[in-house]
Amino acid sequence: MALWGGRFSQESSALFKLFNDSLPVDYRLIEQDIIGSIAWADAITQVGILTQNECTQLQQALKDLLTEVEDKPELILASGAEDIHSFVEQSLIAKVGDLGKKLHTGRSRNDQVATDLKLWCKKEGQQQLVLLRGLRQALLELAQRELDAVMPGYTHLQRAQPIVFGHWCLAYVEMFERDISRLEDALKRADTCPLGTGALAGTAYPMDRYKLAESLGFSSPTLNSLDTVSDRDHVVEICSDASISMMHLSRMAEDLIFFNSGEAGFIDLDDEVTSGSSLMPQKKNPDALELIRGKTGRVYGSLIGILTTMKALPLAYNKDMQEDKEGLFDVMDSWAICLEMAALVLSGLKVNRESTLRAAQQGYANSTELADYLVAKGMPFREAHHVVGEVVVKAIADKKPLEDFALEDLQAFSAIITEDVYECLTIESCLAKREALGGTSLPQVNAALAAKLAG
Ligand code: ARG
Repeated sequence: MALWGGRFSQESSALFKLFNDSLPVDYRLIEQDIIGSIAWADAITQVGILTQNECTQLQQALKDLLTEVEDKPELILASGAEDIHSFVEQSLIAKVGDLGKKLHTGRSRNDQVATDLKLWCKKEGQQQLVLLRGLRQALLELAQRELDAVMPGYTHLQRAQPIVFGHWCLAYVEMFERDISRLEDALKRADTCPLGTGALAGTAYPMDRYKLAESLGFSSPTLNSLDTVSDRDHVVEICSDASISMMHLSRMAEDLIFFNSGEAGFIDLDDEVTSGSSLMPQKKNPDALELIRGKTGRVYGSLIGILTTMKALPLAYNKDMQEDKEGLFDVMDSWAICLEMAALVLSGLKVNRESTLRAAQQGYANSTELADYLVAKGMPFREAHHVVGEVVVKAIADKKPLEDFALEDLQAFSAIITEDVYECLTIESCLAKREALGGTSLPQVNAALAAKLAG
């Protein structure tokens, strides 16, 4: 039976019930709904609605209910209740009879669902932070193993300048660290307790909402009842933070898919995270990485979904907001499994150093060095850029790297070139010069890694 039957003389249509019920989605809030109800029992006891004895009885029944149904969603779903709040209330009444009917005094499902959802976000958000830190750690360990493997760095997917593999790893560490701080920041704002704001106007019982907030582990109560029951900023923020993080994951996946291609051959992925083709026996496909890249789309979809649902909703609660959970749950599930999977892929990844070095040596990645060499000899950079462009055209025509030109051939492009040019064209020299903060020289990358490992 619905919680709100009194005003109605007709049953809901089966189609309406199917359409309206949220239990198939919000059953996941069972723990939070019960924790919130236990705290609520205390709050209404303090204002004289329940005796201490009744409160204890209700709280015990709530705890028993949680033990019975936790990890057994099928039991919850079989109840056919409208939503998780109705399920908890009807189960409570089945356990303790009329006393169970007192629990909802002064409370609305509107402040209740807002509380449940924030409690859920806080708990799952912490779990997400653990996974983000785990991925960061996997990148640091990969950087330790493969730090000085020389590879080409790219712009426009054209070989641009040589870098070391550790520098690539630490680039993603920076991104995931920003993701961590973004989520921590969002969780701070989610840390205010909605309970005790009623349906929209505030509860009619003079309870201490500070105490209530504290008992639920929130740092403070929310301050405006209208805002409280209609606020889903935390859902939007978490979906947004997840979307940004998935963007990073998908870029990392894309880099690795390319590195793993037959054309690049820079890395080997573990059998554990790849699959074969049903037809082509030679294939070893980077499915884990492709799925990380692919799942990014559904996470973005949920972000747009919740933003669009909330757009132009009048104050305060509207049933539209029931649509907040399915997307959020899917976002958190997708994000979590992608973080875990990415860490697993990295832990078994090996760099094929011969291929990465060969690629770094090809593609004229040392052209900037030659230009800088001319600058050091007094030529203005723009002119040097032009001269080197001409050298590269000739090198491409002759199918050879810059360092294979004879000195007199180089001097035909500029007379200021002397024997010491060859030293500056080596990969070692290209790398060593990037010694300003944030560059790819080995001392810089080693120092950056040491700082990350310490921090
Ligand atoms: N199931 C609803 C939701 O998820 C909560 C109930 C509020 N319903 C209401 N009729 N005021 O948003």
